[in-house]
Amino acid sequence: MPTADARREELKAVWKEAQACTRCPQLASTRQSVVFGAGNAGADLMFIGEAPGANEDRQGLPFVGQAGRLLEQLLSEIGLERGDVFIANVLKCRPPGNRDPLPQEIDNCRPYLYRQLELIAPKVVCTLGNFSTKLLRDDPGTGITRLHGREEVRVIGPRAVRLYPIFHPAAALYTPRMLETLRTDFHRLPELLALEPPPQPEPQEPAAREPEPELLEEEDAQEEQQEPAAGREPENAQLGLF
Ligand code: URA
Repeated sequence: MPTADARREELKAVWKEAQACTRCPQLASTRQSVVFGAGNAGADLMFIGEAPGANEDRQGLPFVGQAGRLLEQLLSEIGLERGDVFIANVLKCRPPGNRDPLPQEIDNCRPYLYRQLELIAPKVVCTLGNFSTKLLRDDPGTGITRLHGREEVRVIGPRAVRLYPIFHPAAALYTPRMLETLRTDFHRLPELLALEPPPQPEPQEPAAREPEPELLEEEDAQEEQQEPAAGREPENAQLGLF
């Protein structure tokens, strides 16, 4: 696996690509921000929600509304804070009126999430609610009510992770019994994080070789190296925690 620094740099490149994404024409035309996700780019624990809501769209950060406050509260109960984990969503753009993500939108956005999972390389992936659970288990027929609180090892892209579905905090906000279940499930996270990482699958051969880059003459290469990196760094606060 590439070094943590190399993966972090690559994550920034994916961030940059996502900022200009127009794969979902409706979402691209109604969004205020692309909410890529935020947190520690080398986190052992990653949370995956559904899609940004109005607050997230305005601020460009995931889980900053009421559901986010509950998530932070639960994190503090297990001795963690936002900067210790990485938080992302199935969709990076807000569906208008907070409607459910459409299958085509989930499909369009999936490569960003899979790249995030590959580059952050968490040990535990905690899916919040139905959409992320169904997507990452690749099983649209089995929902969160049956699966919550049951960890399993899953190969997602090139890596094996401990997948741990729990209820979505937004669903638990107004239902005390669901909140109780969410809290019980959440409090098992330290135990899962303390386990050895799951055995990794054999690395696959790359499908096709990248074309060789053109070789530069030595002088050109020196000039190239002196190019300032400015303009390539993400400026958004989403990366403040990276
Ligand atoms: N709900 C989500 O699923 N994601 C957010 O970022 C906020 C609310």
